[in-house]
Amino acid sequence: MIRYVSKENSRALHGTALLRLDFNTEDEWRMTATLPTIKLLLRRGATVVIVSHRGRPSGVKIAGGQPVKFEKKLSLKRDAMRLARLLRRKIRFIPHFRFKEIRRKTAQAPRGSVFLLENLRFLRGEDANDPRLARELASLADFYVNDAFAVSHRDDASVDAITKFLPSYGGMGFEREIRFLSHALTQPKHPLVIILGGGKAHDKLGVLRYFRAKADWFLLGGAAANTLHFVRGMNVGRSLIDRERSDLKMLKAVSRYENLILPSDWITRRNAILDIGPRTIREFEKRIRQARTIIWSGPLGLAEEPRFAKGSLAVAWAIAANRRAFSIAGGGETVMFLKKYRLDKKFSFISTGGGAMLDFLAGEKLPGISALHRTRAARGKKR
Ligand code: 3PG
Repeated sequence: MIRYVSKENSRALHGTALLRLDFNTEDEWRMTATLPTIKLLLRRGATVVIVSHRGRPSGVKIAGGQPVKFEKKLSLKRDAMRLARLLRRKIRFIPHFRFKEIRRKTAQAPRGSVFLLENLRFLRGEDANDPRLARELASLADFYVNDAFAVSHRDDASVDAITKFLPSYGGMGFEREIRFLSHALTQPKHPLVIILGGGKAHDKLGVLRYFRAKADWFLLGGAAANTLHFVRGMNVGRSLIDRERSDLKMLKAVSRYENLILPSDWITRRNAILDIGPRTIREFEKRIRQARTIIWSGPLGLAEEPRFAKGSLAVAWAIAANRRAFSIAGGGETVMFLKKYRLDKKFSFISTGGGAMLDFLAGEKLPGISALHRTRAARGKKR
């Protein structure tokens, strides 16, 4: 069992919290989703030290604990300002990793102070799940909270190893993700319709495999559909496909699934498929109308260009109109698309996870979730 902050009292959440969040989006929707957890910790009287990442920086030189020569857009300094605006509170940004100094600063700060450390991926130990980094981070706090579901499929030091050194909890956003996604995973009402699009096929294979016998229909667009058409021998011209050779066997197997519905017409430009066509839209709408559970990841075309967004828009409207279905959408592109057309509120749940949501829905064990289970078990044994 995972322990969640929402269920804990002020005594358990006493002192300084090391709070792992995920600010890895261009806009603020992921940050906004974390506000309830930050506010709860502050109400319980904690001081909050936030850690997060942005992008995939590599080879950043650290001199005297200070990152030097890195892409400025990967710094979290701007996020500190954004968060201060959203939270209406001062956020103290710490641009270095001199942990002794940080410890002194956070210990001396009045209760209820909020700190944000620089992008943890500037440190090699983060990606390497290095226990030495986890120990340094742990030295800053009395307990740890993961409200970064979106990065919980990574075994990073601030997601995984950290839980070996501090009492650890799941945040409120994390808790909602597990509750809603588990519901879709384990007890979906039928018909269950899974819609998969986006720019990659590879990351959708796990979901296709896991739900093979459970989904009533898979509706495919984007690179996943193009790749499966290609595998079936169709000439897809210059369309986006995944050429990962190691996936070929799996793709061949998937292309034979009986519950797979691939587009039967397209909108193209310069010999590349960029959206599903009107006949496919009608077919997809029909299935969505009948559905009782709907999971959607990835736009069905080049939806950032309005003329190739028609398929995704029709699908989004059909989901919005189906009031009887439990509907989930996730993945950065999909969520940004739904927000742009103000359709996100029409879904039962919007996941902050991209890869994390897909891995969870593929039935995989996410390191961030396993780590929170493990700490609970370890504490139980000690007693
Ligand atoms: C995401 O945006 O999906 C998460 O922040 C994880 O990022 P990553 O794929 O770079 O690990």
